[in-house]
Amino acid sequence: ASIEKNGYDHFMLKEIYEQPKAIRDTIKAKVCNGKILLDEINLSPKELRKIKKVFIVACGTSYHAALIGKYMLEKLCLVPVEVDIASEFRYRSPLLDKNSLVIAISQSGETADTLGAIAYAKNKESKIISICNVVGSSITRCSQGTIYTHAGPEIGVASTKAFTTQLAALYLFCLYLGSIKGLIDQKTCKRCLKALEKIPEDADTILKRASELDELANLFYKKSNFLYLGRGINYPIALEGALKLKEISYIHAEGYPAGEMKHGPIALIDSSLPVVILIPKNQLYEKIISNMEEVKSRGGIVIAIAIEGDKNIIEKADHVFYVPKVLNELTPILFTIPLQLLAYYIAVKRGCDVDKPRNLAKSVTVE
Ligand code: G6P
Repeated sequence: ASIEKNGYDHFMLKEIYEQPKAIRDTIKAKVCNGKILLDEINLSPKELRKIKKVFIVACGTSYHAALIGKYMLEKLCLVPVEVDIASEFRYRSPLLDKNSLVIAISQSGETADTLGAIAYAKNKESKIISICNVVGSSITRCSQGTIYTHAGPEIGVASTKAFTTQLAALYLFCLYLGSIKGLIDQKTCKRCLKALEKIPEDADTILKRASELDELANLFYKKSNFLYLGRGINYPIALEGALKLKEISYIHAEGYPAGEMKHGPIALIDSSLPVVILIPKNQLYEKIISNMEEVKSRGGIVIAIAIEGDKNIIEKADHVFYVPKVLNELTPILFTIPLQLLAYYIAVKRGCDVDKPRNLAKSVTVE
């Protein structure tokens, strides 16, 4: 019965709207009385403290979650992290040993490339855990433990709610590991958890503004190119926004670190190019504003995704969509939702088969 569209035109839209619940369910499954319980990873505090290095492997959208995981883990847990596209991992001789932790991220738990990466890590006797949405799937069976996301079945080929729950799961794991390592005190952990627990409500606020993105889609659905820019922890969200758009609308889109634009993609900017820029209020704010000005001065059309209250943006960008203010580590979850909706509305207006885009499969079980 859960495999129905419930009145939505597409599974993808339904799943975008299910995100508040999916995130809430994921948190609820791991937090009890203000304490994070992650027995499901099957690694003792002693084993966790011994980890010298973390490798995160994944494909597609899950790979973007992995990139964000690196930012979170290095910042909150002071552990070096490498991120690999699963199909590249075992062909580059990564330096794994028994003090390495490999985290495989996969919605389906059946992706052949990710399974291949796990097999390689097993051979090196590394610890292996997964972040997965499907109970009992192949990847969970090859891992020592699994942090389950509780997104429920994801039918739309383009991943949405699985991604945002992966980010919530990664954040919980960081708080857990950071606490065990003595890097995050109880008070800080409680404060961060509270911020995470408010995310579903913030996501709802964004979903209520979906019509603004529908209107933006009206303006841009005939374009043949898009550029997405972000910095720091939101650079992977630029990649994810671009991926969503290409997957379902077949528009060519590129995600780029905003500071790197001047080394290449700036050559693409003209008055027909929409540029989506992610603008959190953090220490990189001034830098991203200056990147935005570089786009504007070359005639590019700026669509800013900014933080509520940032009035400065209104006069600088051509279009602004606001998301509620949150902790920096949680901005990726909120920024990604408007990008999913923008891609969705554009694809629908182009008459594309949103739930089953050409050439793509929900889970890819061949290498
Ligand atoms: C396929 C899907 C993508 C997904 C990727 C990884 O390519 O079309 O949406 O992100 O596989 O899937 P996984 O199940 O491992 O997260």
